[in-house]
Amino acid sequence: MTSKATGSITVTLDGSNKSTSLPLLGGTLGPQVADIRKLYGDLGIFTYDPGYGATASCESTITYIDGDEGVLLYRGYPIEQLAEKSDFLEICYLLLNGELPDKAEYDAFHKGVTYHTMLHEQLKSFFNGFRRDAHPMAIMCGVVGAMAAFYHDNLNINDPEQRRIAAFRLIAKVPTIAAWAYKYSIGQPFLYPRNDLGYAENFLYMLNGVPAEEYVNNPILSRAMDRILILHADHEQNASTSTVRLAGSTGANPFACIAAGIAALWGPAHGGANEAVLKMLAEIGDVKNIPQFISEVKDKNSHTKLMGFGHRVYKNFDPRAKIMKETCHEVLAELGIKDEPLLDMAMEMERIALSDDYFIQRKLYPNVDFYSGIILKAMGIPTSMFTVLFAVARTVGWVSQWKELIEDPSQRIGRPRQIYTGAPARDFVPMDKR
Ligand code: CMC
Repeated sequence: MTSKATGSITVTLDGSNKSTSLPLLGGTLGPQVADIRKLYGDLGIFTYDPGYGATASCESTITYIDGDEGVLLYRGYPIEQLAEKSDFLEICYLLLNGELPDKAEYDAFHKGVTYHTMLHEQLKSFFNGFRRDAHPMAIMCGVVGAMAAFYHDNLNINDPEQRRIAAFRLIAKVPTIAAWAYKYSIGQPFLYPRNDLGYAENFLYMLNGVPAEEYVNNPILSRAMDRILILHADHEQNASTSTVRLAGSTGANPFACIAAGIAALWGPAHGGANEAVLKMLAEIGDVKNIPQFISEVKDKNSHTKLMGFGHRVYKNFDPRAKIMKETCHEVLAELGIKDEPLLDMAMEMERIALSDDYFIQRKLYPNVDFYSGIILKAMGIPTSMFTVLFAVARTVGWVSQWKELIEDPSQRIGRPRQIYTGAPARDFVPMDKR
C-alpha cells in the first residue's frame, strides 16, 4: 500500500457506547477514503453501497478521473495531451509499465506486440462453430476465453515473465479476433495480420481489406482509429475492469478474466452504449422528432434513456467526448461527408439536452459514446462492431489492472457481503404438508 494515513474518523453506534476509530487514507489525488476494514470486527456492522458509488475497491496507480472537473489522466498524463501527441502502442506501454518509453523501449515493445499478432491456427475453427448472424461480442467472449486453452505457457500467474507474455498476447491478438469475428459475419476470408503496418492501420486492414485487392491505407482514418483506441484504453474501476479484477482475484486464468471483462462491457449501460446511440438516432429519424424524444426521456414511466449521455463519475463534460466530437468533424471532412443527418441530430440533441433543466439538474453531459458511433459509421464500420472496438481498446486497460492486482501484496479474493432480506431460518416442510 502506498496511500498515506491522513487522519481518522470516529464512528459511534447510536444508542450504544460502542465506537471505533477508522483511519482516513489519502492518495496522490482525489478525496480521502475511510478504511472500513475493522468496522465489522469492532462494531459488527457492514457498509451498504449498491453500485459502489462511494467505495474504493483497490489502490491503483494507473488512471485518475476527477468527475466534477472533467479530468482524465493515464499515469498522470492528461488525456487531451496523449490523444494529440501519443499513439496507441505508446499508451499501452505507459499503462502497463507506468512511464512513457524511450525510443529503444518503444521499439522493443512494438516488436513484442507484433510478434504475437497471429492466432493459433486451430483457434480459427472456433469461428465456424458460431452462427453466421452471431453478435460479434458473443464471438469475442467465446474466442478470447478460448485462448486459455491454447497458451499453456501463460498459466502461472505468479511468474512475471508469463504475465508479460500474456499481456503481449492479449494486446496483439484481440484485434485479430475482433476483425475475424466481423469477417466471419460477412462471409469474407480472414486476413492475417500485417506486422509492417501500425496497430490501428493493421486493424483497419484486417477489417476492410480483401485478398483480391491491394489495400490502400488512409492515414487520417487510421489516425482517427488510433485516437479512438487511446480514448477508450482505460477508465479506472468501471464495471468491466472491476469484473476483470474480481475474476482475477480468484487466481483465474488471464484470458478467462479478460473474457469476463468483455461480457461486462457488452451491456448498453457500459460499452454497448455506442451501438445503442446509433440505434437511438436511427429510431428518432429526423431532427424534428427530437423534442418528442426528449420528453419521452424525461418521462420516468417510459424507461427511455438518452444513450451516450450521463456517467457515474463525470458530472461535467466527459473529456473524451470533447476529443471525440473534434475527431468526428475531422473524419467527416476527410471523407467529404458534408451533410450527415446523424451528426446534425446528435448536435441538436446535445444543444437541447444541455439547456434543459432535467439534464442540467442531474448533471448529464455527453459521454465518450455519444460521438464515437457517428465516426465509426462514417468509417464504414458496422454498428454491431462498435462495442467490439471498445473491447479492443480496453484490453490494455484490463490487462494493466489485472497485472496491478496480481502484483499487489494486499490483494485478497473479492468477496462482497449483503443485507439478507429473505426468509428467517425455518424448518423444512415435507411436500404433503405444504
Ligand atoms: N438519460 C436520461 N436520464 C438519465 C440518463 C440518461 N442517459 N442517465 C442518467 N439519467 C437520470 C436517471 O434516470 C436518474 O434520474 P432520477 O434522479 O430522477 O432518478 C439520474 O439521472 C441519475 O442517474 P443514475 O441512473 O443514478 O446514474 P448512474 O450513475 O447509476 O448511471 C449511466 C450512469 C452511464 C449507466 C447512465 O447515465 C446511463 O444509463 N446512461 C446511458 C448509457 C450510456 O451512455 N452509457 C455509457 C457510459 S460512458 C462509457 C462506458 O462507461 O462504457
